[in-house]
Amino acid sequence: MNVQKVIDELNKALSLEYASVIQGLQHSFLVQGLFRESISPMLREHAEESFKHAKILGDKIVALGGLPTVEPAPVKQASDLVEMLKQDLTLAREVYEHYESLLKMVQDDTPLRVMVENLVETEKKDCEELEKLLELKKIRVKDKELTFRVK
Ligand SMILES: [Fe+2]
Ligand SMILES: [Fe+2]
Repeated sequence: MNVQKVIDELNKALSLEYASVIQGLQHSFLVQGLFRESISPMLREHAEESFKHAKILGDKIVALGGLPTVEPAPVKQASDLVEMLKQDLTLAREVYEHYESLLKMVQDDTPLRVMVENLVETEKKDCEELEKLLELKKIRVKDKELTFRVK
């Protein structure tokens, strides 16, 4: 395992998590209208999850002998709900794909691999939830009524 390369990639992940914290909070401030009550706490919860991930990454970077970045990746903002969710999905996918590529680099270090695997799983779930909010997967329901026969 190339430690310096891993530190660099962990730092890229850290800057993406910082961007997720800022973007999520900003969207939670900006969201208005009928869905504010449900969407705003959801966005803040995700910002807190990103903050948790940033702490994990920063601690690991120092453990490997690296200097954690203090620079967030680019942040997007919008006041329209669908537009902000699309921006969040774009960032969530970027974070997920970054962890997927990082995972390939850390296969021979078990604790690091497990750490990144957990991040991969969480970020995939974040993507899936945003895809559901945006109704990207249309589910066809053929039977509107289901009848069960008890034997
Ligand atoms: Fe995260
Ligand atoms: Fe996330």
